[in-house]
Amino acid sequence: MKIILGSDHGGYQLKEHLRKYLAGKETEDLGVFSEESSHYPEIAKKVAEKVVSEKCFGILICGTGIGVSIAANKVNGARAALCHSTEYAALARQHNHANILCLGGRFTEHSLAEKIVDTFLTTEEEDGRHDVRVAMLDEMDINC
Ligand code: RB5
Repeated sequence: MKIILGSDHGGYQLKEHLRKYLAGKETEDLGVFSEESSHYPEIAKKVAEKVVSEKCFGILICGTGIGVSIAANKVNGARAALCHSTEYAALARQHNHANILCLGGRFTEHSLAEKIVDTFLTTEEEDGRHDVRVAMLDEMDINC
């Protein structure tokens, strides 16, 4: 599945690392393209809207991962999860059907980020009780 990448300046170094790491996969980099100061809500909105419209995955990175996750989750259909470990990434996919992985560029070693990304991209969504709960999230979007 296609992967949309985006970061602010705080996530730029890690985004560049992951863009190269994911070179064999279909990716689209929406920026930023330098470490010049930028506003994380702008890139989070761009990535989240594209992930929802193209039904694909996103990876969003800012300094902590917090700002991009707050912003991305304001877009209907986006389920952005800030992950600090492979366990979080697996559960975000299995239980929350997350479609956007958020990372803290200033707090996540590149080698750990690679493992988190691999886990996120390869873990399937679980159905049953999780489907019911994700449907409730979708319902909240419709009512917003
Ligand atoms: C930018 O300095 C920083 O605030 C941003 O990257 C992010 O961590 C916000 O949540």
